Amino acid sequence: MSPMSLSTPTLHTARLTLRPFDDPDGDDLFAMHSDAHVLRYWDAPPWSERVRADRFIAACRRMAEDGSGARVAVERGSDGVFLGWCGLTRWNPDYRSAALGYCYAEAAWGHGYATEVARALLGWAFETLDLNRVQSETDTRNGASARVLEKLGFVREGTLREDCVVNGDVSDSWVYGLLRREWRPSAEPAPGR
Ligand SMILES: CC(C)(COP(=O)(O)OP(=O)(O)OC[C@H]1O[C@@H](n2cnc3c(N)ncnc32)[C@H](O)[C@@H]1OP(=O)(O)O)[C@@H](O)C(=O)NCCC(=O)NCCS
Repeated sequence: MSPMSLSTPTLHTARLTLRPFDDPDGDDLFAMHSDAHVLRYWDAPPWSERVRADRFIAACRRMAEDGSGARVAVERGSDGVFLGWCGLTRWNPDYRSAALGYCYAEAAWGHGYATEVARALLGWAFETLDLNRVQSETDTRNGASARVLEKLGFVREGTLREDCVVNGDVSDSWVYGLLRREWRPSAEPAPGR
């Protein structure tokens, strides 16, 4: 491992385990990323080839080796069922910035998991890295994802017009930012934010 590597953490929240990806996750990962409904607001089409899952897992390992980010597989604490993933990518030590992304299987939606996981991963990142800013973009139609970011304290900074074209479908994105001085490890954002 190079001196610039960044070891992907294993973290436990009240209900969930966040851990590095491993090869056996490939089947669950492929099932999720090939689901057109899950991917309906994604910035790329659903996967149609199983090898994409292996490439994704290899990219997670490379990210740890070259220190450019940390992407965790998320499983339910009680029974180890794979729920999805959350990642902090594009870590730039000069700018002290990174990007946040996440994806969960439909069966996992609506339980607060995405927020719980991102809060844990951001907490780890603010403690471990000299991180100042985290950015995330979301399709403007993706109300649930926007809500997750707002619950975490992210501020909507603008609209990227016609940011994505996926299978001919043109969409706008919102860009969200969270600064270290605004980060609250466990609290919901203050009312009126
Ligand atoms: C978006 C996603 C991450 C949300 O995951 P989740 O675990 O259900 O999120 P949480 O339960 O933590 O929070 C969702 C919030 O959005 C709200 N919500 C759900 N559907 C919504 C909608 N259509 N419009 C507005 N808010 C909505 C929920 O009520 C909840 O807010 P609340 O706690 O105030 O009630 C999940 O649906 C997903 O993985 N989707 C597919 C991949 C994806 O779109 N990823 C994001 C790309 S930017």
